[in-house]
Amino acid sequence: MIDENMRDVLIRHAMEARGRAYCPYSKYAVGAALMSENGEIYEGCNIENASYGGTVCAERVAIFGAVGEGIRTFRAIAIVGGPADNGAAGASENGFAVPDNEPFAWPCGFCRQVMREFCDPESFQIIVARNPEDYRVCTLAQLLPESFGPENLGK
Ligand code: THU
Repeated sequence: MIDENMRDVLIRHAMEARGRAYCPYSKYAVGAALMSENGEIYEGCNIENASYGGTVCAERVAIFGAVGEGIRTFRAIAIVGGPADNGAAGASENGFAVPDNEPFAWPCGFCRQVMREFCDPESFQIIVARNPEDYRVCTLAQLLPESFGPENLGK
């Protein structure tokens, strides 16, 4: 389980990662911080591409980074996303937080399915935040009900 303190830490890591977003095309900067079962934190930011289709979301950068290091079980992910100036999130006095009126950056369908590959839908927590005091939490099962996953293929 993820307590309030861990949520706070994860959100701050996601804000930090948001500052590294490479988003010159959409100018929408996203940071993610993923906590593994053993308590390590893996950060990711969105990385865009001139082909557009080569763009990868912050959540998948974090997950693939961890899996590439041999880590495959996770407890939670925090996501902070919103408009950026000049294709990079500029730090304000509030760090890389997102303005109050901005919609939460809920994960896209592809990222939800990638989470489904490595995370238990009933317990994996998804935290979407504007800053450490302003966030929503739900499980993967809530965002991806009745899902297809590894068990369908005998894994
Ligand atoms: N993006 C993410 O990083 N995560 C999401 O869940 C939604 C979208 C990125 C992809 C692209 O660089 C930009 O936000 C606009 O779609």
